[in-house]
Amino acid sequence: MKRVVVLISGAGRNLQALVDAERDGRLPRCLAGVISSRADAAGLQRASAAGLPAQVITPGVFADRAAFDAALVRQIDAWRADWVVLAGFMRILTPGFTAHYAGRLLNIHPSLLPRHPGLRTHAAVRAAGDTQHGATVHFVTEALDGGPRIIQGALMVRPEDTDETLAERVMVDVEQRIYPQAVAWAVNGRLAVQGAHVAALDGQALHQPLSLDDLEAGF
Ligand code: GRF
Repeated sequence: MKRVVVLISGAGRNLQALVDAERDGRLPRCLAGVISSRADAAGLQRASAAGLPAQVITPGVFADRAAFDAALVRQIDAWRADWVVLAGFMRILTPGFTAHYAGRLLNIHPSLLPRHPGLRTHAAVRAAGDTQHGATVHFVTEALDGGPRIIQGALMVRPEDTDETLAERVMVDVEQRIYPQAVAWAVNGRLAVQGAHVAALDGQALHQPLSLDDLEAGF
């Protein structure tokens, strides 16, 4: 059994999607623990309801980012993680951390990367007048939101959309579908990084990320 540690900071809806997928068999049993960077993260209740071990590691008590990341590494390695999954984890990780977990560290970002890296993506999409929006699962490297992309799901922006309605549709229609799938590929040994810059599924380089349509076609 491959072991997955999930890092959160907030509501934990992506964590919940992984818990639900594990429960109904879309994801093999793999969830080994949850770390939250905030003591008040609602996702901690979801972890406890799912019976998952959880630890709070807050950056404020450490001298610097390197010391915080070292504490994360100690806990993740104590849980013997094969994969580390960032799910709304609102801290930028040091290059030392990303190198330690190179090729087994995933993130989900609420935009069609490479468009709109960084924060407040839903507002950025509306400000830019984009007609499409979505989310991307990617390997994490030291380039912020810039690692090899694995899968994206897109939806159409509606004229009446607000930041909140967009965020909700991206979460429910895209994020909660693509993340369990990507994590399942990871723990089933199907996902890797080729030559540091390109993700590969079953040894096939993904020069473009897979899409929700590919999922429906049976990947
Ligand atoms: C999600 O939109 C995720 O893509 C982003 O932060 C949000 C976290 O939501 N990185 P949740 O904590 O999973 O509910």
